Amino acid sequence: MTDLRARLARVRADARDRLAAAGDVAAVESLRNALLGRSGELTLMLRELPGVDPEQRPQVGQLANAIRGEIELAMKARLGELEAHALDARLASEAIDMSAPGRPVRVGHLHPTLSVERDLREIFHAFGFEIFEGPEIETEAMNFEALNIPPDHPSRDLWDTLYVAEPGSDPPRPATDGTILRTHTSPVQIRAMRELTPPIRVITPGRCFRYEAVDASHNFEFFQVEGLVVDRDTSLADLKGMLEEFARALYGEATRTRFRPGYYPFTEPSVAFDVSCLVCGGPGCPACGRSGWMTILGAGMVHPSVLRAGGIDPDAYQGYAFGMGLDRITLLRHGIPDLRLLMGADLRFLSQFAGGR
Ligand code: DAH
Repeated sequence: MTDLRARLARVRADARDRLAAAGDVAAVESLRNALLGRSGELTLMLRELPGVDPEQRPQVGQLANAIRGEIELAMKARLGELEAHALDARLASEAIDMSAPGRPVRVGHLHPTLSVERDLREIFHAFGFEIFEGPEIETEAMNFEALNIPPDHPSRDLWDTLYVAEPGSDPPRPATDGTILRTHTSPVQIRAMRELTPPIRVITPGRCFRYEAVDASHNFEFFQVEGLVVDRDTSLADLKGMLEEFARALYGEATRTRFRPGYYPFTEPSVAFDVSCLVCGGPGCPACGRSGWMTILGAGMVHPSVLRAGGIDPDAYQGYAFGMGLDRITLLRHGIPDLRLLMGADLRFLSQFAGGR
């Protein structure tokens, strides 16, 4: 039975190499099966023991068991080794290379129109104004009637209105409840008067809409900031003083200002407020129509019927109001020639204004 002894010795020797070649846990397990499983090589050899010469049997038996023990131990060791390798590999793959250059972070910034709006908020905040915002979808009653603009009054032509269609109407006709897109921020005056108790001192920034033919200086969508002050004895002098301070805060101390008579249905008297031309500073240029002046807003003393529409007694209170467009301020600030650029989403254009002012 030296033959069995020799075969056992070969299994023992081969097992070492085969184990060393097993590259992962699964390979070790399948080797375990091939050697020690039910019909594994070693198992089958052990089954031959009863046929071995009784004198040699104990020795051969011992040898076979010793080999079995050895292989089991070696397998355990190999498994430990493989696990350690796997961990090393995982750590290596997860390692952070501290010297690698970082991925650049794209930091956003305010849209140039929005940064003008923020500046106005800040200036008026310093003047003691609060922010009071209203909806972009309004009713004709709020956008016009409450502001002293009756349905068939010619002054309504000043605002080319976008009407919201009556649901289901085909062809579309204006909603019977008078829903429109607000043409100015002035209806928020009414909302502020109804919600707040005087003294009222608010500005109302927001988006407005008009039925406009779009060109370099007109758009169907634009931004305004409205202001409203209501108190016991607010006067036109207060309005003038405040607006002069405002113009200097926005455009610098050297800015000259003037008031001209104007017309708005919701103010009486009404004024147009001009600043010295922001391009030429006075002598006259194409930007100011050679006049040396630019009109930046409309204003006036709140009309008594507007106060009444806001639930305020015109005999006890007076107020002033003003309204300005943000888009033109933005164009002038940056020397942008076309309003449509502001409404585009072209980052090559917009990212030029990362610095705000
Ligand atoms: N709502 C006016 C417009 O869109 C601007 C305006 C003018 C607002 C005079 C006012 C004001 O509050 O007093 O043309």
